[in-house]
Amino acid sequence: MSVNRILIADPIHPHALSLLRSNSRIEVAVAKGLSEAQLIDLIADYEAIIVRSKTSVTTSVIEAARRLKVIGRAGNGLDNIDVATATRRGIAVLNAPDVSSNSTAEFALAQLLSLSRNLPQAHASMRAGEWQPARFMGTQVMSKSVGVIGFGAVGRKFARLCLALKMEVLVHDPFLNFENEEAGIEAVTLEELLSRADYVSLHCPLTERTRLLIDAVKLAQMKPGARLINCARGELIDETALLEALQSGRLAGAALDVYASEPPANSPLLTLDTVVLTPHLGASTEEAQQMVGLKIANAVADLLLKDQVSQVTAASV
Ligand code: MLT
Repeated sequence: MSVNRILIADPIHPHALSLLRSNSRIEVAVAKGLSEAQLIDLIADYEAIIVRSKTSVTTSVIEAARRLKVIGRAGNGLDNIDVATATRRGIAVLNAPDVSSNSTAEFALAQLLSLSRNLPQAHASMRAGEWQPARFMGTQVMSKSVGVIGFGAVGRKFARLCLALKMEVLVHDPFLNFENEEAGIEAVTLEELLSRADYVSLHCPLTERTRLLIDAVKLAQMKPGARLINCARGELIDETALLEALQSGRLAGAALDVYASEPPANSPLLTLDTVVLTPHLGASTEEAQQMVGLKIANAVADLLLKDQVSQVTAASV
């Protein structure tokens, strides 16, 4: 009986690890925080690799693979995987796109409310022994407009949450199917969204087309005093231009969960009072991580042991 070796290169939920370890035809190795060179050294021994967003499965890693049949992405975005090279080499790329979308949409709403009511700043002030209610006067979100860029699973759920708060919801997505437009949600061009929205929230994947989507030009098109929310990918935003827009007061604030480089060491964005910062937590709930882990573990095992695909995105098998 042949044994399939799976390399787990980023943290996945313990239930997913147990599921894989309980199968006598699977051998699991866990090695987190590997550099690209270390991964290149190791990958030749494995039939499968599972990553989250920290480890990149680059062209060089895939070219060093000898037996690799499947790359499992425990999560949504595939920007850390060279899907084109994997496809060319007949390696399947599987992800779990929908199961963490509720958690990420809830997180984006938490960012929007934190920004509006200065929750992290007020908390830090209380911890410093202060009592300054006047300093943290907030903004009500009801009747404000929110622009949702990207109307996939997360953007859609976030938009519905905003509708429940009686916000005006504008959406821009080049792939939006107008027949599926939902009640209360207005599809607009990117320019219109930027000029009308009090809050702009990014929910699109990182691709060559969307890299630096929000640059100095787009920031200048945003409504004066608007707020920007990003729990998608850091490279969607030109961070230098964002810094300038915040420092000049053109934008009232930003909530960032993701950064061009993670962690964002020495970024001046970390020093601004108008920025709410979190360390890539969008999909980090017990529920989402358990579902993501189990889904990808089952999908990778099915592909290795039964040559059966239970979930495939982007790549061919
Ligand atoms: C995702 O793409 O699923 C999220 O960014 C969370 C993660 O890093 O896995």
